[in-house]
Amino acid sequence: MSWWREFASRIECDAPIGRSTWFRLGGCARFLFRPQDVSQLSSLLVRARQEDVPVKVLGSGANVLVSDDGFDGVVVRLDSEVFRTTNRTADRLDVGAGVGLMPLARLCSEQGLSGLEYLAGIPATVGGAVKMNAGGRLGDLSQVVREIRVLGDDGSVETWDNQRIGFGYRHSELGDRIVLSARLALQPGDPEAVTKTFDECFDYKRRVQPMAERSAGCVFKNPAGESAGALIDRAGLKGTSCGGARVSSRHANFIVVDSGATASDVLGLVERIQERVRRVFDVELALEIEVWRPRRSKGTSV
Ligand code: EPU
Repeated sequence: MSWWREFASRIECDAPIGRSTWFRLGGCARFLFRPQDVSQLSSLLVRARQEDVPVKVLGSGANVLVSDDGFDGVVVRLDSEVFRTTNRTADRLDVGAGVGLMPLARLCSEQGLSGLEYLAGIPATVGGAVKMNAGGRLGDLSQVVREIRVLGDDGSVETWDNQRIGFGYRHSELGDRIVLSARLALQPGDPEAVTKTFDECFDYKRRVQPMAERSAGCVFKNPAGESAGALIDRAGLKGTSCGGARVSSRHANFIVVDSGATASDVLGLVERIQERVRRVFDVELALEIEVWRPRRSKGTSV
């Protein structure tokens, strides 16, 4: 019997996950799993590990490109109620991994809880945001996370404090571990003032980023001391296209796609940008977005 049959009631086979990402591109996941609770998730994780099947969590899909060949593993969605709860005790907030960061940041601002307002305009779930230490020039998640609950390698629930998470620039030491919830430490503040900062941060992003278009946010990490967007811009790449994928003329670190684009178009453009920036500035641009693809896939150079 196939290993996944015991989870069959919560599993969908050959699920078109590409369309659930912000790019709305790419193929299917071999399995899509929607656990109802932590123990279901833990059991699946242990079995998938035994079978050497890769497992990924799809949050809001804002930082993921699914290849045209799909993803040959299990994609987990933490959209059941148990992963979407928020509990506040004074200035401490316990939030499930499936909670949307943007609505949370807005709600906290309105309630006069300061700390998340700088993250306005960042599309993510709390789990995804912790994993990649989402943020911008004014702050990132590492500044507010006190501790998290995470599924350990053996499927048991562990508590990791801020130090252990090993936050860096768009980085944590979580690897493939799955975040279940986060405890955030926020500061009491004046609701009006905090909301004003939230609105200013959001307005700034709306002004400089192509928010209304299909993209996955910033494609590359900023190299130390530089802005990837400014380098791509100075290399003259704004407006450059590959099939239906194009370097945004508003912000050069965004790739925007038209209807008819494929994931391969995006990957082709990524390579072209990396080559040009390497040639002009001798700088290596590393991907911020994750590319999900089968283990043995064509065109795996980026
Ligand atoms: N710039 C250009 N041309 C461009 C884009 C930017 O010259 O096409 C210049 C800007 O004028 C500015 C500098 O580059 O002087 C930095 O630009 P920006 O303020 O837009 O910040 P960024 O470093 O490009 C970072 C995050 C964004 C976040 C913003 C605002 C990364 C890779 N990006 O962008 O995060 O929204 O700060 O806080 O760290 C994301 O992670 O997906 C993302 C969009």
